[in-house]
Amino acid sequence: MKIDMKTLAQKYGTPLYIYDFDYIENRYTTLKEAFAGKKSLINYAVKANSNLSVIAHLAKLGAGADCVSIGEVRRALDAGVANYKIIFSGVGKRDDEIREALEKDILFLNLESEAEMKRVEMVAKELGEEARISVRVNPNIDPQTHPYISTGLHENKFGVEIDMAKRMYIYANRSEFLNPVGIHFHIGSQLTKLEPIKEACVIVSDLVRSLKAIKIDIKFFDVGGGIGVVYNDEVTISETDYAQAIFEATKGLDVTLMCEPGRYMVANAGAFFTRVLYEKNNDGKRFVIVDAAMNDLLRPSLYNAYHQIEAVTADANADKTDADVVGPVCESGDFLGKDVPLPPLQHNDLLVVQSTGAYGFTMASNYNTRGRSAEVALEAGVDRLIRRRETYEDQVRLELEYLKK
Ligand code: LLP
Repeated sequence: MKIDMKTLAQKYGTPLYIYDFDYIENRYTTLKEAFAGKKSLINYAVKANSNLSVIAHLAKLGAGADCVSIGEVRRALDAGVANYKIIFSGVGKRDDEIREALEKDILFLNLESEAEMKRVEMVAKELGEEARISVRVNPNIDPQTHPYISTGLHENKFGVEIDMAKRMYIYANRSEFLNPVGIHFHIGSQLTKLEPIKEACVIVSDLVRSLKAIKIDIKFFDVGGGIGVVYNDEVTISETDYAQAIFEATKGLDVTLMCEPGRYMVANAGAFFTRVLYEKNNDGKRFVIVDAAMNDLLRPSLYNAYHQIEAVTADANADKTDADVVGPVCESGDFLGKDVPLPPLQHNDLLVVQSTGAYGFTMASNYNTRGRSAEVALEAGVDRLIRRRETYEDQVRLELEYLKK
């Protein structure tokens, strides 16, 4: 793409998130085509990047939304996702969230415990409605990913085991206020191996077969999210292999196939720009201090995640030496990259941190009273602001009126 990043950084300032909307479109259509010939619904996992314009872009292409709070449900609706394509998951839904989701008539609520099922039944009864539900099954499979983003083992807090799921379906099927329409699992994120997903699909399809045998007609088979992306040199899952594995496991079942990709859709659409403030050398250790920090991009600090970092403005041919790229926040864990090979850098040189479209801005905070970055979309060679930079006034708005003078 012929867009000059230096000009964009100049125009919008730094730190800055930029998302390539054409890339997102391409990802969506590639995955959708892999499911060609079957009933399918791709529910974008809003948590990965919940900017309204990003959701709206996917909604226009036909995507549904996977939400984990009523806030995300509202975002999806505001962005134009049809209510009948929205699902609501999460281990801890409040009564008011359940009520609103039912009132908005979304596709289904994904239940993660028996206790939650009873709450949903109670709220549906109060509303005099029947709640469409699915149950999140925990198939006890090791997804072989980072422990913080592994979710499909019994030691994780998510979902219910098979026997409990079966009991819940039987209860829901008898209830006047519950309608079990779906089944769901999600074993983890950044999965680069297909085998664990395949295994989970087989276990959960068997459950669907046994439910259909007792006249509980599951219509939606949701395999969750988790398709891994390339941050460095990972070899990850191909869309066609992914879809084929799901077809194979669900052979003969009349279901709509669903998945909830987040990172797959947006991670590599995003680049994060930051400027060099200073260089310093502590007893032979080189530090590049930049104007972005862990509050802007938390993944390196939280998961020790790798993001490729390159200099945009410095002389590309200059000799590189390793440096830690660090921010101004008051913590040693505040780094964007460790031992990053970089040329000599000057004040104001521009660096780009790659693959930052997923779980970048959405995990940003105001720690150290730092305003969150601006976000920009690039579409067909045209740039546009999709979230303005946060000001100090934005940050104190909810406190100022309570300040005792
Ligand atoms: N569905 C459910 C039920 C989920 O819990 C998640 C992610 C997804 C879908 C989307 O997963 P994806 O396709 O993006 O892998 N903050 C971490 C990732 C946490 C993922 C949580 N759940 C990170 O920065 O790596």
